Order: sequence, then C-alpha cells, then structure tokens
Amino acid sequence: MLKTLKCDPALFEKDLSGQTYIVTGANSGTGLATAEQLVRQGANVIAACRRMEAGIDAIKHLTAESGSVEVMELDLNSLESVRQFVSAFKKQHTLLHGLVNNAGVMNTPEGKTKDGFETQFGVNYLGHFLLTELLLDLLKKSAPSRIVIVSSAAHAGMQKSPGTIDLDDLHFENRKYDGVLAYNQSKLALVIYGRHLAQRLKGSGVSAFSTHPGWIRSNLIKHTTPVWVQNVLMRPFSRFLGIMSAKDGAQTQLHCLLDDNAPVHSGEYFSQNSILYADKKDKPGGWPMKSPNPLTYKDELAEQLYKISIKHVGLDKN
Ligand SMILES: NC(=O)c1ccc[n+]([C@@H]2O[C@H](COP(=O)([O-])OP(=O)(O)OC[C@H]3O[C@@H](n4cnc5c(N)ncnc54)[C@H](OP(=O)(O)O)[C@@H]3O)[C@@H](O)[C@H]2O)c1
Repeated sequence: MLKTLKCDPALFEKDLSGQTYIVTGANSGTGLATAEQLVRQGANVIAACRRMEAGIDAIKHLTAESGSVEVMELDLNSLESVRQFVSAFKKQHTLLHGLVNNAGVMNTPEGKTKDGFETQFGVNYLGHFLLTELLLDLLKKSAPSRIVIVSSAAHAGMQKSPGTIDLDDLHFENRKYDGVLAYNQSKLALVIYGRHLAQRLKGSGVSAFSTHPGWIRSNLIKHTTPVWVQNVLMRPFSRFLGIMSAKDGAQTQLHCLLDDNAPVHSGEYFSQNSILYADKKDKPGGWPMKSPNPLTYKDELAEQLYKISIKHVGLDKN
C-alpha cells in the first residue's frame, strides 16, 4: 500500500497576502486544488485557463476566501496565445511570486498545435517553456520566487514505453506516432528543463522544481480510458494503485511553493508516490528524490534541448 505524501499543515497557515501566483490549467484537477489553497491563504491567484467559461465557473466558489482570483485566457496550444497572456498579465501586474506550470494533456490522438508542434510536446512543454521564459524578468524582480514545473512519473518511462527524447524527431514526423511515448517525451523535457533552468537562475533568488503530482482522479485520463472507469470502477482499488484526490495531488506542488527549505533543492525532482516506477525503492516517491531516468542528469542533452526550444518558440529572434 502506498502512503500519500502530505504537506506539513503549518505550511497552510502561512499568510500569502500580497503574493501573486499564476497557475496554468486552474479550472480542474490539481490546478484548481492548488489555486484554491493559495487563495484560501490570502494570495492573489491568476487562473490561466484555455476555456474562460470553465475557469470562471470553477473558481466562483472562491469569492468568500481571503485572497483573490482572476481568470485569464491562456491556450498553450498556441505560442501567440502565450505571448498575449504574458502581455496582458504584465499590463496589470508588476510582481510574480510563483508560477505553477500545471496544465497538461496526456496520450492525445496524433495531432499538431497551431504552430505545427506535436500536440503533447507543444502544449505540455513548449507552451510552458515560452511562458516561463517570458515571465523570468518579473520572477527575478519579485525574488524570492518559485517556479513549479508539473511533470509526471511517466518521464522515467513505463514498461513498453521508455522515457526518451528524440531531438532529431521531436514531433514524430519520421517515426510512427505513439501517444504514450509522446507524453513521456514531453514530461521528460519538463524535468530536464527544470534542472537546466535552476542552474541558469542560481543566485537570482528564483528557484525551480519539477514534480510528479501522483495518480489523480481527474480528466487527464480521458484520451486513454473513460474518466468514469478510473473514478468509479477503479475506486475500490485506489489505495492499492495509489490513485488519489486532486487535493492530495496538489500536495507536491504546494510543498514546493510553500516549504521554507525547498529552495535549497532548486532544480531537483519532487515526486508523490507512483506504482509506475520500475524500482521498488522509488515507488514511495520523495520530496525531493533522484529521478530514475538517467537522461535527467545529462547536461549536454539539457543544453541541446534548451537551444532547440529557444528556436522553436522564436526567442532566438528577440
Ligand atoms: N492525473 C494524473 O494522474 C497525473 C499524473 C501525473 C502527472 N499529471 C500532470 O498533472 C497536471 C494536471 O493534470 P490533472 O490531473 O489535474 O488533469 P486535468 O484535470 O485534465 O487538468 C488539466 C488542465 O490542463 C488544461 N489544459 C489542457 N490543454 C490546455 C491548453 N492547450 N492550454 C491551457 N490549458 C490546457 C485543462 O484545461 P481544459 O479543462 O480546458 O481542458 C485543465 O485545466 C498535468 O500536467 C498532468 O500531466 C497528472
């Protein structure tokens, strides 16, 4: 039986008044649970959502809380939308204390983003890459500040689907599309980026972490199996499989955002438990833990990925 890692309750007593956070994908799952907790503690939260109506509907119960929450449109499927979001955010806000790159899609049918990237690589990784890079100035100005990059245990691969990155074919143009491989690739890119980013940010007061939030009862599974199968049929096996609520799934990112000691571990990987890890010793997770994927620690790969990413999102022309 896997034990859910939970935040020290004292972290939820912290007063976050005057602190501004962006949470992507805050209309459902862990994003919503994270936004709820931050607002409860007095923070000003920007819920960055693909669908405005869904965002407004999801956060309307938070009006009585001590902080504030505002929905802004962000579609990670489009670099133009990311740029518009950042420009609108910067018109209204001069500080940013926390960025939670939480939104994501999993095992989507073969497809391309508006800019022609493989969907999962584009939405999960490149969209968040551009968002983060464009917000670094504000994060530095607001230091101490933190960036949480929500990855997945899948970055380390699963039985028949390794966690690899093919720098020569990131968009599955020369190999058969495989939705699970593409998810793993996008999530590995996020862990590698988190470590590289933390190295670049050394001494700036901005820390960066990558995370695995756990197996959460959420909509993420919708392209793999009907959501009700996970939420109803599999519920009796939840404790055995480590399937948890969105509130428990938000614990890892909240720990990274709120724990006083977390910045000492900037660049590291923080993981909820996971049955996906091949090695028994990794299954309980850890805050932080060593990523089971050795590619996480290849500095040359990280540098190559960074250079490619800069080109993909057009930052080489800035
Ligand atoms: N659930 C798990 O077991 C699990 C395990 C490991 C890692 N994770 C990671 O945890 C994160 C949160 O997932 P979740 O479980 O909370 O799933 P979820 O309930 O499906 O939430 C995903 C969020 O991402 C948003 N999103 C999807 N495409 C987007 C786009 N193009 N632009 C902006 N936002 C977009 C969704 O918006 P819409 O509602 O508009 O689609 C939704 O708000 C993801 O990064 C996921 O990969 C989850």
